Amino acid sequence: MRSAARAKVQFVCQSCGAVSARWQGRCDECGEWNSLVEESGASGVGAGPGRATRRSGRIITLEGLVGDASEAPRIRTGIAEFDRVTGGGLVRGSALLVGGDPGIGKSTLLIQAAGALAAAGRPVVYVSGEEATAQIRLRAARLGIADAPVRLAAETHVEDILATLEDEAPPALVIIDSIQTLWTERVDSAPGTVTQVRAAAQALIRYAKQSGAAVVFVGHVTKDGQIAGPRVVEHMVDGVLYFEGEGGHHFRILRAVKNRFGPTDEIGVFEMTGAGLREVANPSELFLGERNANTAGAAVFAGMEGTRPVLVEIQALVAPTTLGTPRRAVIGWDQGRLAMILAVLEAHCRVRLGDCDVYLNVAGGLRIGEPAADLAVAAALVSSRLNAPLPVDSVYFGEVSLSGAIRPVAHAPIRLKEAHKLGFGRAVMPDGTATGDAEPAMTAKPMAELADLVAAVATTAGNGSNPDH
Ligand code: TYD
Ligand code: MG
Repeated sequence: MRSAARAKVQFVCQSCGAVSARWQGRCDECGEWNSLVEESGASGVGAGPGRATRRSGRIITLEGLVGDASEAPRIRTGIAEFDRVTGGGLVRGSALLVGGDPGIGKSTLLIQAAGALAAAGRPVVYVSGEEATAQIRLRAARLGIADAPVRLAAETHVEDILATLEDEAPPALVIIDSIQTLWTERVDSAPGTVTQVRAAAQALIRYAKQSGAAVVFVGHVTKDGQIAGPRVVEHMVDGVLYFEGEGGHHFRILRAVKNRFGPTDEIGVFEMTGAGLREVANPSELFLGERNANTAGAAVFAGMEGTRPVLVEIQALVAPTTLGTPRRAVIGWDQGRLAMILAVLEAHCRVRLGDCDVYLNVAGGLRIGEPAADLAVAAALVSSRLNAPLPVDSVYFGEVSLSGAIRPVAHAPIRLKEAHKLGFGRAVMPDGTATGDAEPAMTAKPMAELADLVAAVATTAGNGSNPDH
């Protein structure tokens, strides 16, 4: 009898997937309490098939970097906003994770993509572990894709799914809704655990690589924004997309957070309607809100999302506070960045904000990450503080530095063209911005210092009529 006959035991954190040799009350990696679960070391990732004894390996051929590297063949779903985010379509043999809050519309998006692809003659298999096929059919009827030849299964058992898929020619696309419902016999943990999800994903990813089918997993996100449990899956797949939306809005934004085959800064914009998700090809119209000439505190930011320009209204409310510590609330922008703009306005532009509550909102539920929004945020804040409406036909972009200087940002010509297209006539932007050929159409108002902007807004506050700067 071998002394090491006792199966090796390890403890796996169900929150982050970290592996520990002994049980602990708290995971060292993610700090989660009571998340470690005992597992047999002979299962899960890294374990070979069964408990086979070590054999001498097969010799694999090593290859050089020079060689066959044809552009990854893409499968276009026909839903342009979806194809844009994936970088031009799904890559054959790749695995993609689509994450999002429950009820945000992941299943709707994917059944629509499946329907479009199937209608174009590509074989698609949709495996649901959450809904019965009858429910999926009802939804498809509502979406108007009932006669698309999508092949459905309601199944959660990985071995059965794989046996079915391997029994025939590989489809172009396999959708698994959701990865959290799957279970496999390869590991003996309970369904829903990290180990199960990881092993199930691994088996299906292997199928994708071998067969050339694209596999899309749906994953639910926990309240703190992580794909529940299997964060490990994010590392295993070729791409991770998040489907998100603000409560109360009908807009949904599909965003790539990881993409081995394309850019990660593109967004796809959809609107949830009674008949499913509608593509929004021109998001600016959505995020501009209802423009009103006489409202102080609103500025239009000429932004970029990936390669696409997006115009969005930034709304600020600056009001005298009744609290000892004034409130600063932000929706859709970075809190720290707002604090910085407020500090620059106080220190370099003599705008007093210390005794005011400040609320900042990005219209339409969009989240902006670009520093180029600084100037538009500052304009909205100053406009509200001085109660001076900004000109309705102006857009703003530019980064503000701690010294109060306005710094140039990239893609000015694209921003200006979009603004012109939507009927704006003026752009307040950093001094020295290269405008390309967009300038003749737009009146450029170059500014070097944030104080110049404050002065311009202040003059309109003085005369109160026909604001012009
Ligand atoms: P669903 O795709 O089931 O969300 P997920 O798979 O991310 O959990 O979407 C469910 C929501 O979408 C539900 O609240 C109803 C709404 N919805 C519509 O508004 N219109 C539609 O045509 C469909 C199918 C769903
Ligand atoms: Mg669903």
